[in-house]
Amino acid sequence: MTRDLRMRWLTPALALLLAVGLSACNSFTPNTIFGAHSEFGHSVDVLTRRLLYLGILVFILVEALLVFILVKFRDKDGTREAQQIHGNTTLEIGWTLVPAVILAFIAVPTIKTIFKTQAQAVPNALQVEVIGHQWWWEFRYPQYGITTANELYLPVGRTANFALTTKDVLHSFWIPQLNGKRDLISNHTNYIWFTPDSSFAWNGFCAEYCGTSHANMRFKVFTVTPAEFDAWAAHQKTNAVGTAPAPAPGDSTKPAAPPVLTVATSTGATTPAAKDAKPPVATPVMTVSDTSSATYPRSKLPEWVIPKTPTPVSLTFDPNAEGDASRGATLFKTAPCIACHTVRGVPTAAGIVGPNLTHVGSRTTIAGGLYPNDVKHLELWIKNAPAMKPGSLMPLFGKAEKGETPGLYTDQQIADLAAYLSSLK
Ligand code: CUA
Repeated sequence: MTRDLRMRWLTPALALLLAVGLSACNSFTPNTIFGAHSEFGHSVDVLTRRLLYLGILVFILVEALLVFILVKFRDKDGTREAQQIHGNTTLEIGWTLVPAVILAFIAVPTIKTIFKTQAQAVPNALQVEVIGHQWWWEFRYPQYGITTANELYLPVGRTANFALTTKDVLHSFWIPQLNGKRDLISNHTNYIWFTPDSSFAWNGFCAEYCGTSHANMRFKVFTVTPAEFDAWAAHQKTNAVGTAPAPAPGDSTKPAAPPVLTVATSTGATTPAAKDAKPPVATPVMTVSDTSSATYPRSKLPEWVIPKTPTPVSLTFDPNAEGDASRGATLFKTAPCIACHTVRGVPTAAGIVGPNLTHVGSRTTIAGGLYPNDVKHLELWIKNAPAMKPGSLMPLFGKAEKGETPGLYTDQQIADLAAYLSSLK
């Protein structure tokens, strides 16, 4: 190869390498597995790095030996032909023992990590039941009597123990920076536990192919201070705002006022294990004060938490339809919605097939994390869910829409329903 030719290849190759290298440290990647924020994540991180570094060491040694032999014993004038041999006891013992030692270096920490992360959770852990559905997540907090969907709240510094099951096919529960993946299996409960070390909003995913909308089965995790968690839990236990029946005359018990938080927290290292934990990049400071629903404030959400999924172009909505929440509430009581959804405080709405909608208005996303939760997206979702999410088990409700089932409602009625659901904070 001439010097010119060599330079012609070398320059672009180095530029490419530099570009790839720099892009890796360019921005905050919320879904990376490097940068753990729980003791579970740290165990996996330590193991991954050890295996990676050992692998690099073995690679360099093997390649160096290979290159050395290729150069040293290359064909030269006057060299004799290589001698053909077979059966060399020393060599055979060597290439059996060396890999065995390498495997021992991998096996010992791997097995230790498996035992550590499969052990039972501490007895006072926060219990969360995770139930997989095609294609959304049901979360129950049995110690608090709460059922919610697609959004988890966890207190920083307290171990959360998740009991994983599924209503249909296999799914897998995964929050890249908090835990490893663990499968949801029918007729068998799997467990996983971890202790979040800082306040933040995290993305969660289904990590096992489970059908058409597997990629659209996402969830959010909000790690908050214990005080904020208690306020959230207390509010979740109440009936949705606006659904509580008016107190009877002479009844002295007033409906519970929604809690108002004025706690301002910084990213907190509150556990001993979290002492040297680095705070996540782009950490918002949580100031729960405005909201009556004690939820993670939307204004503080990192931008990547809100999905930007485009809606189908063929699906349109009457721009003149102004939703009215009280009309929507009346319609909802007898609408087919109640066959699948529960809204605590509405006696007729007790379905358990779909997500519990008691506080749906306070969630950040709808449709298994596929769309942002706002009136516009809710309207389109009710109008034609199967068009919004491939394979959706929720049927369409738009009167003019074409699908497996005939639609029932005009855009005006759907706008009313959406206004009502949005008001359920
Ligand atoms: Cu559920 Cu993939």
